[in-house]
Amino acid sequence: GKVCLAYSGGLDTSIILAWLLEQGYEVVAFMANVGQEEDFEAAEKKALAIGATKYVCVDCREDFVTKVLFPAVQVNAVYEDVYLMGTSLARPVIAKAQIDVAEKEGCFAVAHGCTGKGNDQIRFELGFYALKPDVKVIAPWRDPTFFERFAGRKDLLDYAAEKGIPVTQTKAKPWSTDGNQAHISYEAGILEDPDTTPPKDMWKLITDPQDAPDKPENLTIEFKKGLPVKLSYEENGEQKVATEPLDVFLTASKLARRNGVGRIDIVENRYINLKSRGCYEQAPLTLLRRAHVDLEGLTLDKEVRHLRDQFVTPTYSRLMYNGSYFTPEFEYVKSMIAPSQTTVNGQVRLSLYKGNVIVLGRSSETENLYDPTESSMDELTGFLPTDTTGFIAIQAIRVKKYGEAKKVRGEE
Ligand code: ARG
Ligand code: SIN
Repeated sequence: GKVCLAYSGGLDTSIILAWLLEQGYEVVAFMANVGQEEDFEAAEKKALAIGATKYVCVDCREDFVTKVLFPAVQVNAVYEDVYLMGTSLARPVIAKAQIDVAEKEGCFAVAHGCTGKGNDQIRFELGFYALKPDVKVIAPWRDPTFFERFAGRKDLLDYAAEKGIPVTQTKAKPWSTDGNQAHISYEAGILEDPDTTPPKDMWKLITDPQDAPDKPENLTIEFKKGLPVKLSYEENGEQKVATEPLDVFLTASKLARRNGVGRIDIVENRYINLKSRGCYEQAPLTLLRRAHVDLEGLTLDKEVRHLRDQFVTPTYSRLMYNGSYFTPEFEYVKSMIAPSQTTVNGQVRLSLYKGNVIVLGRSSETENLYDPTESSMDELTGFLPTDTTGFIAIQAIRVKKYGEAKKVRGEE
Protein backbone atom coordinates (compact mmCIF):
# COMPACT_ATOMS: atom_id res chain seq x y z
CA GLY A 1 0.00 0.00 0.00
CA LYS A 2 0.89 3.65 -0.31
CA VAL A 3 1.94 5.82 2.62
CA CYS A 4 2.00 9.63 2.67
CA LEU A 5 5.02 10.68 4.75
CA ALA A 6 5.46 14.17 6.17
CA TYR A 7 8.98 14.69 4.89
CA SER A 8 11.34 17.44 6.05
CA GLY A 9 14.52 16.71 4.11
CA GLY A 10 16.37 16.13 7.37
CA LEU A 11 18.09 13.01 8.63
CA ASP A 12 15.21 11.55 10.68
CA THR A 13 12.49 11.64 8.03
CA SER A 14 14.99 10.48 5.37
CA ILE A 15 15.71 7.42 7.51
CA ILE A 16 11.97 6.92 8.06
CA LEU A 17 11.42 7.11 4.29
CA ALA A 18 14.03 4.41 3.63
CA TRP A 19 12.67 2.30 6.48
CA LEU A 20 9.09 2.52 5.14
CA LEU A 21 10.35 1.32 1.75
CA GLU A 22 12.12 -1.55 3.49
CA GLN A 23 8.82 -2.50 5.14
CA GLY A 24 7.35 -2.91 1.66
CA TYR A 25 5.38 0.32 1.44
CA GLU A 26 5.27 2.70 -1.47
CA VAL A 27 5.92 6.27 -0.22
CA VAL A 28 4.60 9.66 -1.29
CA ALA A 29 6.84 12.33 0.25
CA PHE A 30 4.75 15.29 1.38
CA MET A 31 5.99 18.73 2.34
CA ALA A 32 3.99 21.78 3.40
CA ASN A 33 5.30 25.21 2.56
CA VAL A 34 4.31 27.19 5.64
CA GLY A 35 6.93 29.85 5.01
CA GLN A 36 9.89 28.05 6.57
CA GLU A 37 13.37 28.80 5.30
CA GLU A 38 13.93 25.63 3.32
CA ASP A 39 15.48 24.37 0.11
CA PHE A 40 12.41 22.60 -1.27
CA GLU A 41 14.15 21.58 -4.49
CA ALA A 42 16.96 19.87 -2.61
CA ALA A 43 14.40 18.11 -0.42
CA GLU A 44 12.50 16.89 -3.49
CA LYS A 45 15.70 15.53 -5.07
CA LYS A 46 16.65 13.80 -1.86
CA ALA A 47 13.22 12.18 -1.36
CA LEU A 48 13.16 10.86 -4.92
CA ALA A 49 16.76 9.66 -4.67
CA ILE A 50 15.94 7.66 -1.53
CA GLY A 51 13.07 6.04 -3.40
CA ALA A 52 9.84 7.99 -2.91
CA THR A 53 7.34 7.34 -5.72
CA LYS A 54 6.36 10.95 -5.74
CA TYR A 55 7.11 14.26 -4.03
CA VAL A 56 4.27 16.70 -3.36
CA CYS A 57 4.75 20.16 -1.87
CA VAL A 58 1.66 22.16 -0.92
CA ASP A 59 1.84 25.94 -0.59
CA CYS A 60 -0.07 26.67 2.63
CA ARG A 61 1.25 30.18 3.28
CA GLU A 62 -1.92 32.11 2.45
CA ASP A 63 -4.26 29.67 4.22
CA PHE A 64 -2.00 29.66 7.23
CA VAL A 65 -2.36 33.45 7.54
CA THR A 66 -6.07 33.85 6.85
CA LYS A 67 -7.41 30.70 8.53
CA VAL A 68 -5.19 30.45 11.59
CA LEU A 69 -2.68 33.24 12.21
CA PHE A 70 -5.07 36.18 11.84
CA PRO A 71 -7.78 34.59 14.03
CA ALA A 72 -5.04 34.01 16.62
CA VAL A 73 -4.25 37.74 16.48
CA GLN A 74 -7.96 38.57 16.82
CA VAL A 75 -8.24 36.53 20.01
CA ASN A 76 -4.78 37.58 21.39
CA ALA A 77 -3.83 33.90 21.59
CA VAL A 78 -0.95 33.10 23.93
CA TYR A 79 0.14 29.99 25.87
CA GLU A 80 1.46 30.38 29.41
CA ASP A 81 1.81 34.15 29.09
CA VAL A 82 4.61 34.24 26.51
CA TYR A 83 4.48 31.55 23.82
CA LEU A 84 2.54 32.75 20.77
CA MET A 85 2.30 29.17 19.48
CA GLY A 86 4.01 29.46 16.11
CA THR A 87 4.35 25.67 15.87
CA SER A 88 0.97 24.80 17.38
CA LEU A 89 -0.83 27.10 14.93
CA ALA A 90 0.84 25.56 11.87
CA ARG A 91 -0.04 21.95 12.70
CA PRO A 92 -3.75 21.97 11.70
CA VAL A 93 -2.88 23.56 8.35
CA ILE A 94 -0.18 20.96 7.68
CA ALA A 95 -2.38 18.04 8.84
CA LYS A 96 -5.15 19.17 6.49
CA ALA A 97 -2.79 19.49 3.52
CA GLN A 98 -1.26 16.08 4.25
CA ILE A 99 -4.66 14.37 4.41
CA ASP A 100 -5.68 16.06 1.14
CA VAL A 101 -2.53 14.68 -0.51
CA ALA A 102 -3.05 11.23 1.03
CA GLU A 103 -6.58 11.08 -0.37
CA LYS A 104 -5.61 12.38 -3.78
CA GLU A 105 -2.71 9.94 -4.08
CA GLY A 106 -4.70 6.98 -2.78
CA CYS A 107 -2.64 6.46 0.38
CA PHE A 108 -4.15 4.23 3.07
CA ALA A 109 -1.74 5.58 5.72
CA VAL A 110 0.08 8.73 6.80
CA ALA A 111 3.42 8.82 8.60
CA HIS A 112 5.32 11.46 10.55
CA GLY A 113 8.65 11.86 12.33
CA CYS A 114 7.48 13.33 15.63
CA THR A 115 8.98 11.92 18.81
CA GLY A 116 6.88 10.15 21.40
CA LYS A 117 7.46 12.82 24.00
CA GLY A 118 6.10 15.92 22.31
CA ASN A 119 2.98 17.86 21.48
CA ASP A 120 3.27 17.57 17.72
CA GLN A 121 2.40 13.85 17.50
CA ILE A 122 -0.89 14.62 19.25
CA ARG A 123 -1.66 17.66 17.09
CA PHE A 124 -0.99 15.82 13.83
CA GLU A 125 -2.73 12.61 14.71
CA LEU A 126 -5.89 14.17 16.14
CA GLY A 127 -6.03 16.22 12.94
CA PHE A 128 -5.56 13.13 10.77
CA TYR A 129 -8.28 11.18 12.57
CA ALA A 130 -10.75 14.08 12.46
CA LEU A 131 -10.23 14.64 8.75
CA LYS A 132 -9.97 11.00 7.66
CA PRO A 133 -11.32 8.78 10.45
CA ASP A 134 -10.31 5.54 8.69
CA VAL A 135 -6.68 6.56 8.13
CA LYS A 136 -3.84 4.43 9.47
CA VAL A 137 -1.13 6.41 11.25
CA ILE A 138 2.48 5.26 11.23
CA ALA A 139 4.56 6.89 13.97
CA PRO A 140 7.99 5.19 13.72
CA TRP A 141 9.37 6.86 16.85
CA ARG A 142 6.66 5.04 18.82
CA ASP A 143 7.11 1.72 16.98
CA PRO A 144 9.45 -0.70 18.82
CA THR A 145 10.73 -2.25 15.57
CA PHE A 146 11.93 1.23 14.63
CA PHE A 147 13.10 2.79 17.88
CA GLU A 148 14.85 -0.34 19.10
CA ARG A 149 16.81 -0.49 15.87
CA PHE A 150 17.68 3.22 15.82
CA ALA A 151 18.43 3.75 19.47
CA GLY A 152 21.06 6.43 18.94
CA ARG A 153 22.25 8.90 16.39
CA LYS A 154 25.05 6.55 15.35
CA ASP A 155 22.50 3.93 14.24
CA LEU A 156 20.79 6.56 12.10
CA LEU A 157 24.08 7.59 10.49
CA ASP A 158 25.10 3.97 9.84
CA TYR A 159 21.76 3.27 8.19
CA ALA A 160 22.07 6.45 6.12
CA ALA A 161 25.48 5.27 4.89
CA GLU A 162 24.10 1.82 4.11
CA LYS A 163 21.18 3.26 2.13
CA GLY A 164 23.25 5.92 0.42
CA ILE A 165 21.33 8.77 2.07
CA PRO A 166 23.38 11.96 1.89
CA VAL A 167 23.93 13.50 5.31
CA THR A 168 24.50 17.22 4.89
CA GLN A 169 25.53 17.98 8.44
CA THR A 170 27.72 15.33 9.99
CA LYS A 171 27.97 17.27 13.22
CA ALA A 172 24.52 17.51 14.74
CA LYS A 173 23.15 20.91 15.68
CA PRO A 174 23.04 20.94 19.47
CA TRP A 175 19.25 21.60 19.41
CA SER A 176 16.17 20.83 17.31
CA THR A 177 14.22 23.45 15.38
CA ASP A 178 10.83 23.90 13.75
CA GLY A 179 10.25 26.91 11.53
CA ASN A 180 7.52 28.63 9.57
CA GLN A 181 6.50 32.19 8.66
CA ALA A 182 5.25 32.82 12.20
CA HIS A 183 8.32 31.68 14.11
CA ILE A 184 11.18 29.31 14.64
CA SER A 185 11.54 27.12 17.70
CA TYR A 186 14.68 25.79 19.37
CA GLU A 187 14.40 22.92 21.83
CA ALA A 188 16.30 19.90 23.14
CA GLY A 189 20.04 19.24 23.10
CA ILE A 190 22.05 21.75 25.11
CA LEU A 191 18.85 23.75 25.75
CA GLU A 192 17.50 20.97 27.99
CA ASP A 193 19.41 22.55 30.87
CA PRO A 194 17.03 25.45 31.57
CA ASP A 195 19.91 27.46 33.02
CA THR A 196 22.04 27.25 29.87
CA THR A 197 21.85 30.59 28.10
CA PRO A 198 21.44 30.02 24.36
CA PRO A 199 24.56 30.96 22.39
CA LYS A 200 24.25 34.18 20.41
CA ASP A 201 24.58 32.34 17.09
CA MET A 202 21.59 30.06 17.77
CA TRP A 203 19.07 32.78 16.93
CA LYS A 204 18.48 32.83 13.19
CA LEU A 205 15.58 35.12 12.29
CA ILE A 206 15.60 38.13 14.58
CA THR A 207 18.41 40.66 14.87
CA ASP A 208 19.97 40.70 18.31
CA PRO A 209 18.31 43.70 20.01
CA GLN A 210 21.79 45.00 20.89
CA ASP A 211 22.75 45.02 17.21
CA ALA A 212 19.45 46.49 15.96
CA PRO A 213 19.39 49.98 14.41
CA ASP A 214 19.95 52.95 16.75
CA LYS A 215 17.04 54.76 15.13
CA PRO A 216 13.43 53.73 15.91
CA GLU A 217 11.32 52.53 12.98
CA ASN A 218 7.72 53.74 12.86
CA LEU A 219 4.70 52.04 11.33
CA THR A 220 0.90 52.14 11.35
CA ILE A 221 -1.35 49.09 11.46
CA GLU A 222 -5.01 49.40 10.55
CA PHE A 223 -7.55 46.85 11.78
CA LYS A 224 -11.06 46.03 10.55
CA LYS A 225 -13.10 43.79 12.86
CA GLY A 226 -9.86 42.92 14.61
CA LEU A 227 -8.09 41.83 11.43
CA PRO A 228 -4.93 43.65 10.32
CA VAL A 229 -5.91 45.00 6.89
CA LYS A 230 -3.20 47.56 6.24
CA LEU A 231 0.37 48.13 7.33
CA SER A 232 2.15 51.36 6.34
CA TYR A 233 5.73 52.36 6.96
CA GLU A 234 8.55 54.32 5.42
CA GLU A 235 11.55 52.70 3.76
CA ASN A 236 14.40 54.61 2.11
CA GLY A 237 12.33 57.78 2.15
CA GLU A 238 9.46 56.03 0.38
CA GLN A 239 5.96 55.43 1.81
CA LYS A 240 5.13 51.71 1.63
CA VAL A 241 1.82 49.96 2.18
CA ALA A 242 0.86 46.29 2.55
CA THR A 243 -2.79 45.24 2.30
CA GLU A 244 -2.92 41.56 1.22
CA PRO A 245 -3.06 39.28 4.30
CA LEU A 246 0.16 37.39 3.54
CA ASP A 247 1.93 40.62 2.62
CA VAL A 248 0.76 42.34 5.82
CA PHE A 249 1.99 39.37 7.85
CA LEU A 250 5.37 39.12 6.14
CA THR A 251 5.92 42.87 6.29
CA ALA A 252 5.18 42.86 10.02
CA SER A 253 7.70 40.04 10.25
CA LYS A 254 10.38 41.92 8.33
CA LEU A 255 10.06 45.10 10.41
CA ALA A 256 9.91 43.29 13.74
CA ARG A 257 12.83 41.03 12.88
CA ARG A 258 15.21 43.77 11.88
CA ASN A 259 14.41 45.70 15.06
CA GLY A 260 15.03 42.80 17.41
CA VAL A 261 11.39 42.19 18.33
CA GLY A 262 10.08 38.78 19.41
CA ARG A 263 12.71 36.57 21.01
CA ILE A 264 11.62 34.56 24.04
CA ASP A 265 12.95 31.78 26.24
CA ILE A 266 10.59 29.77 28.45
CA VAL A 267 10.01 26.54 30.32
CA GLU A 268 6.57 25.37 29.23
CA ASN A 269 4.16 22.62 30.18
CA ARG A 270 3.57 20.17 27.36
CA TYR A 271 0.18 18.52 26.91
CA ILE A 272 1.76 15.18 27.81
CA ASN A 273 2.65 16.61 31.24
CA LEU A 274 6.38 17.05 30.75
CA LYS A 275 8.08 20.38 31.26
CA SER A 276 10.14 21.54 28.32
CA ARG A 277 12.50 24.43 27.73
CA GLY A 278 11.95 26.28 24.48
CA CYS A 279 13.39 29.34 22.77
CA TYR A 280 11.30 31.03 20.11
CA GLU A 281 11.66 33.82 17.59
CA GLN A 282 8.12 35.06 17.08
CA ALA A 283 8.51 38.43 15.38
CA PRO A 284 5.26 38.98 13.42
CA LEU A 285 2.86 37.70 16.08
CA THR A 286 4.56 39.77 18.79
CA LEU A 287 4.03 42.95 16.80
CA LEU A 288 0.51 42.24 15.52
CA ARG A 289 -0.76 40.97 18.86
CA ARG A 290 0.59 43.99 20.68
CA ALA A 291 -1.06 46.40 18.24
CA HIS A 292 -4.34 44.48 18.39
CA VAL A 293 -4.43 44.42 22.19
CA ASP A 294 -3.85 48.15 22.18
CA LEU A 295 -6.67 48.95 19.76
CA GLU A 296 -9.07 46.87 21.83
CA GLY A 297 -8.40 49.23 24.73
CA LEU A 298 -9.94 52.03 22.68
CA THR A 299 -12.67 50.17 20.84
CA LEU A 300 -13.85 47.13 22.79
CA ASP A 301 -16.63 47.12 25.38
CA LYS A 302 -15.33 46.59 28.91
CA GLU A 303 -17.48 43.60 29.87
CA VAL A 304 -17.10 41.88 26.49
CA ARG A 305 -13.37 42.26 26.83
CA HIS A 306 -13.26 40.91 30.36
CA LEU A 307 -15.42 37.90 29.49
CA ARG A 308 -13.33 37.20 26.41
CA ASP A 309 -10.09 37.51 28.39
CA GLN A 310 -11.35 35.23 31.12
CA PHE A 311 -12.96 32.49 29.04
CA VAL A 312 -12.30 32.69 25.31
CA THR A 313 -8.60 33.60 25.03
CA PRO A 314 -7.26 31.08 27.54
CA THR A 315 -9.52 28.29 26.30
CA TYR A 316 -8.74 28.97 22.67
CA SER A 317 -5.01 29.02 23.43
CA ARG A 318 -5.00 25.85 25.51
CA LEU A 319 -7.05 23.93 22.94
CA MET A 320 -4.80 25.14 20.14
CA TYR A 321 -1.66 24.15 22.05
CA ASN A 322 -3.11 20.75 22.90
CA GLY A 323 -3.92 19.90 19.29
CA SER A 324 -7.70 20.18 19.61
CA TYR A 325 -8.19 22.31 16.49
CA PHE A 326 -10.51 19.81 14.78
CA THR A 327 -12.87 19.29 17.71
CA PRO A 328 -16.40 20.46 18.52
CA GLU A 329 -15.16 22.40 21.55
CA PHE A 330 -12.63 24.31 19.46
CA GLU A 331 -15.21 25.16 16.81
CA TYR A 332 -17.48 26.43 19.56
CA VAL A 333 -14.78 28.62 21.11
CA LYS A 334 -13.68 29.87 17.68
CA SER A 335 -17.23 30.98 16.91
CA MET A 336 -16.97 33.40 19.84
CA ILE A 337 -14.17 35.43 18.25
CA ALA A 338 -16.08 37.25 15.51
CA PRO A 339 -18.85 38.65 17.75
CA SER A 340 -16.16 40.16 20.02
CA GLN A 341 -14.45 41.96 17.15
CA THR A 342 -17.21 43.94 15.41
CA THR A 343 -16.06 47.23 16.98
CA VAL A 344 -12.31 46.64 16.71
CA ASN A 345 -11.80 49.10 13.86
CA GLY A 346 -9.11 51.73 13.73
CA GLN A 347 -5.38 52.18 13.62
CA VAL A 348 -2.40 51.94 15.92
CA ARG A 349 0.83 53.88 15.39
CA LEU A 350 3.89 52.08 16.66
CA SER A 351 7.60 52.40 16.96
CA LEU A 352 10.06 49.50 16.94
CA TYR A 353 13.30 50.02 18.78
CA LYS A 354 15.93 47.49 19.86
CA GLY A 355 13.55 44.69 20.80
CA ASN A 356 10.75 46.96 21.99
CA VAL A 357 7.33 47.63 20.52
CA ILE A 358 6.31 51.12 21.60
CA VAL A 359 2.77 52.37 21.06
CA LEU A 360 2.77 55.97 19.84
CA GLY A 361 -0.99 56.44 19.60
CA ARG A 362 -4.25 54.93 18.41
CA SER A 363 -7.44 56.19 16.79
CA SER A 364 -10.76 55.05 15.40
CA GLU A 365 -12.99 56.93 13.00
CA THR A 366 -16.01 54.72 13.59
CA GLU A 367 -16.02 53.70 17.25
CA ASN A 368 -17.17 56.04 20.00
CA LEU A 369 -16.73 54.11 23.26
CA TYR A 370 -13.95 56.44 24.32
CA ASP A 371 -15.24 59.96 24.97
CA PRO A 372 -12.40 62.32 25.92
CA THR A 373 -14.77 64.82 27.53
CA GLU A 374 -16.53 62.16 29.58
CA SER A 375 -13.21 60.62 30.71
CA SER A 376 -11.49 63.94 31.35
CA MET A 377 -10.35 64.78 34.90
CA ASP A 378 -10.85 68.43 34.07
CA GLU A 379 -14.50 68.28 33.08
CA LEU A 380 -17.75 67.94 35.03
CA THR A 381 -19.82 66.12 32.43
CA GLY A 382 -21.61 62.77 32.03
CA PHE A 383 -22.46 62.28 35.70
CA LEU A 384 -22.16 64.27 38.90
CA PRO A 385 -19.35 63.70 41.40
CA THR A 386 -22.03 63.04 44.04
CA ASP A 387 -23.36 60.11 41.93
CA THR A 388 -20.10 58.32 42.64
CA THR A 389 -20.63 58.70 46.40
CA GLY A 390 -23.68 56.44 46.03
CA PHE A 391 -21.80 53.97 43.81
CA ILE A 392 -19.11 53.56 46.45
CA ALA A 393 -21.66 53.32 49.29
CA ILE A 394 -23.36 50.36 47.60
CA GLN A 395 -20.07 48.62 46.80
CA ALA A 396 -19.03 49.16 50.43
CA ILE A 397 -21.96 47.23 51.98
CA ARG A 398 -20.25 43.84 51.62
CA VAL A 399 -16.75 45.17 52.14
CA LYS A 400 -17.67 46.64 55.54
CA LYS A 401 -19.30 43.36 56.67
CA TYR A 402 -16.23 41.44 55.59
CA GLY A 403 -13.95 43.84 57.47
CA GLU A 404 -16.06 43.63 60.63
CA ALA A 405 -16.09 39.82 60.60
CA LYS A 406 -12.31 39.73 60.28
CA LYS A 407 -11.97 42.11 63.22
CA VAL A 408 -14.22 39.89 65.35
CA ARG A 409 -12.03 36.87 64.52
CA GLY A 410 -8.96 38.92 65.38
CA GLU A 411 -7.37 38.47 61.93
CA GLU A 412 -5.20 41.06 60.20
N1 ARG B 1 7.10 23.44 22.18
C1 ARG B 1 6.55 24.08 21.03
C2 ARG B 1 5.15 23.59 20.81
O1 ARG B 1 4.79 22.57 21.33
C3 ARG B 1 7.40 23.89 19.81
C4 ARG B 1 7.43 22.50 19.24
C5 ARG B 1 8.45 22.37 18.15
N2 ARG B 1 8.26 21.21 17.35
C6 ARG B 1 9.25 20.54 16.71
N3 ARG B 1 8.93 19.52 16.00
N4 ARG B 1 10.51 20.89 16.81
O2 ARG B 1 4.38 24.21 20.12
C1 SIN C 1 8.76 16.38 18.97
O1 SIN C 1 8.77 15.83 20.08
O2 SIN C 1 8.61 15.74 17.92
C2 SIN C 1 8.94 17.88 18.90
C3 SIN C 1 8.51 18.60 20.11
C4 SIN C 1 7.03 18.58 20.36
O3 SIN C 1 6.28 18.00 19.58
O4 SIN C 1 6.58 19.14 21.39
